[in-house]
Amino acid sequence: MKKLLFLTIAFALFISCGQQEKESDMDRFVGDLMSQMTVQEKIGQLNLITPGGGIPTGSVVSTDVEAKIKEGNVGGIFGVSGPQKVRQAQQLAIEESRLGIPMIFGSDVIHGYKTTFPIPLGISASWDMELIEKTARIAAQEATADGIFWNFSPMVDIARDPRWGRVAEGAGEDPFLGSLVAKAMVRGYQQDDLAHENTMMATVKHMALYGASEAGRDYNTVDMSRNRMFNDYMPPYKAAVDAGAGCVMSSFNDVNGIPASGNRWLLTDLLRDQWGFDGFVVSDYTSVNEMIAHGMGDLQAVSALSLKAGLDMDMVGEGFLTTLEKSLEEGKVTEAEIDLACRRILEAKYKLGLLDDPYRYFDETRPEKEILTAENRQAARDVAARSFVLLKNNNQVLPLKKSGTVALVGPLADSQNNMLGTWAPTGEHHLAVKVIDGVKIVVGDEVEILYAKGANIVDDPEYAEKINVFGPKVEIDERSPEEMIREALAVSARADVIVAVVGEASEMSGESANRTNLQLPENQKKLVRALAKTEKPLVLVMMSGRPLALVEENELANAILQVWHPGVEAGNAIADVLFGNYNPSGKLTMTFPRNVGQIPIYYAHRNTGRPQEGDTFEKFKTNYLDSPNSPLFPFGYGLSYTKFEYSEITLSKTTISADETLEARVTLTNTGDYDGEEVVQLYIRDVVTSITRPVKELKGFQKIFLKAGESKEVSFTLSEEDLKFYNYDLEFVAEPGEFIVFIGTSSDEVKETRFVLE
Ligand code: BGC
Repeated sequence: MKKLLFLTIAFALFISCGQQEKESDMDRFVGDLMSQMTVQEKIGQLNLITPGGGIPTGSVVSTDVEAKIKEGNVGGIFGVSGPQKVRQAQQLAIEESRLGIPMIFGSDVIHGYKTTFPIPLGISASWDMELIEKTARIAAQEATADGIFWNFSPMVDIARDPRWGRVAEGAGEDPFLGSLVAKAMVRGYQQDDLAHENTMMATVKHMALYGASEAGRDYNTVDMSRNRMFNDYMPPYKAAVDAGAGCVMSSFNDVNGIPASGNRWLLTDLLRDQWGFDGFVVSDYTSVNEMIAHGMGDLQAVSALSLKAGLDMDMVGEGFLTTLEKSLEEGKVTEAEIDLACRRILEAKYKLGLLDDPYRYFDETRPEKEILTAENRQAARDVAARSFVLLKNNNQVLPLKKSGTVALVGPLADSQNNMLGTWAPTGEHHLAVKVIDGVKIVVGDEVEILYAKGANIVDDPEYAEKINVFGPKVEIDERSPEEMIREALAVSARADVIVAVVGEASEMSGESANRTNLQLPENQKKLVRALAKTEKPLVLVMMSGRPLALVEENELANAILQVWHPGVEAGNAIADVLFGNYNPSGKLTMTFPRNVGQIPIYYAHRNTGRPQEGDTFEKFKTNYLDSPNSPLFPFGYGLSYTKFEYSEITLSKTTISADETLEARVTLTNTGDYDGEEVVQLYIRDVVTSITRPVKELKGFQKIFLKAGESKEVSFTLSEEDLKFYNYDLEFVAEPGEFIVFIGTSSDEVKETRFVLE
């Protein structure tokens, strides 16, 4: 601490000055500090370790943590939480290392800290940016109360392949929506003041293109055209950087032949030189070391490659710590390169206020007051209800009446361990509200509830073991599958309506949880078939971390409510929606395919030279012999208990020049019986272009609340900026000519009209 005193004075000055002065103060401050550091101490700052308290997602966790901290060999730690514990670790750095430089403390706070919100794919289905920002703000408040102020979130990887388990962690397939979500999350975590005790530094991940891993297999090769990269995959990373994200995490995959963690074009030319990123880049978990397997050389070689590429901090693998000094001696890296990385990390520490007070986040009175408050839990309940997507609702089966008898069946109806969803390492399963409990809380006095499990999540013990790697998610019943179905049928026979809670265990999606079969597990399909035969109204509550292929279930059930993994308030939120206390308003942010063979499938595809209109097979058009082209449920799709009608579109002008704007308007009418919200979506298509362009691209949306019977004019402003894309030479331009503008309730149900850009 002694050594930090003079630094503290400099920091006090920083607080009181303008932005530019702040920056030069920071420069001076960091420069002074670095002038006292040995090369090994500088390299120590580049080392990020985990003692293994969180979820170890690689095969190694750090050892000799205490000794390393004392030696000045640790820049940051993740997987440690609680103000007391974190303070102890920080004390080691401050009091026992030579220069007393504080460490940063990180974690994966992906969808809430202890107040777990729905999985991010679910949150994105709310299309509500204020709400999304609020989830990040609450997460930051709770995490910082627990001593963590650096977040490995938001994950903004565009994902168009639902085989990939990590689609659960992002905002789906669309770059426009994904960019808005990325910004909202960064704002929520950082709130323009990294030094505030309630905010945390955001890390945009995984840079880059991780969502395009071939065959939906995690960590796999990525090879794509620059055209697709810039137009479809890069925008959310850039948006997060523009919003001021303090940190970027490099991805596991290679990008056109060079692994991201050693890819200089990606981490320096693009990220820093073109986008102006001024924070630091952290590797993913041992992704530097993993370049050995990619065939890029031994640990010394890949570590040098990463540093030279612009990677600043090495997560867990210790390639930097153990080889960079040698590489320096051998002239394979320069001291200037080490200095640059060290400087970026110290700057982050400065911005976080740690060099002023290294203990600023460790207030032991905070957790009790600020974590899992009633208010936060209420927010989790609201967000969850708004994340649900009503996929089908024949004959208005939903909302259910608050009377009579409900048979509540299915392997997820009485499950507590699967409510939080994947990547909730800081959440606590025992605090989650089960579906059966939520239903009892919400309508227990009015409705008789009968329960039967009906089926296991999966029957195969080997499959179950892979899913249970972070604790029991699948428990295989001692009863035979037949006996369980019989019990479910017996219960159903006594009920007016059947609600079956089926789908995936939480760890059937997420990291290293890829699937080649996207149907419900066969044993659950058998349950659904048996229930459908009863001819009682059948409602499926579909829990999953990804789009599933639900063709058969869509035929058999009367209603399907997609609820993702809804978080700590799961049961309450599901009951709120099933019984009409909240009218669902979620819309899909990722296309639901009919079958795996259609993947990758996404609405913003380009036309072929032989497009096929509709799903009727035409020889020598683009199609399949054994499947329609269309998805089961398209991007932007989601029903409501009420009905919305759209007028034709009116335009304020049909021709605009580059400096003009036009208004596109529709009148939206709630023609049903319930008050409700509708996400009004605007898409465009550029008719004639210098490179092939998508048939439709989202360019705007508004979430509108209307009382039953009410109408409202909804207006969007379009300008040349909205019409820009990256052309063949990667210039961001709008090309004059005709545009189609579409407005509607989903990507495939729209009104359309045309205008011209002069
Ligand atoms: C994941 C990252 C995560 C990191 C640290 C990795 O396996 O890919 O998303 O932030 O582990 O937990």
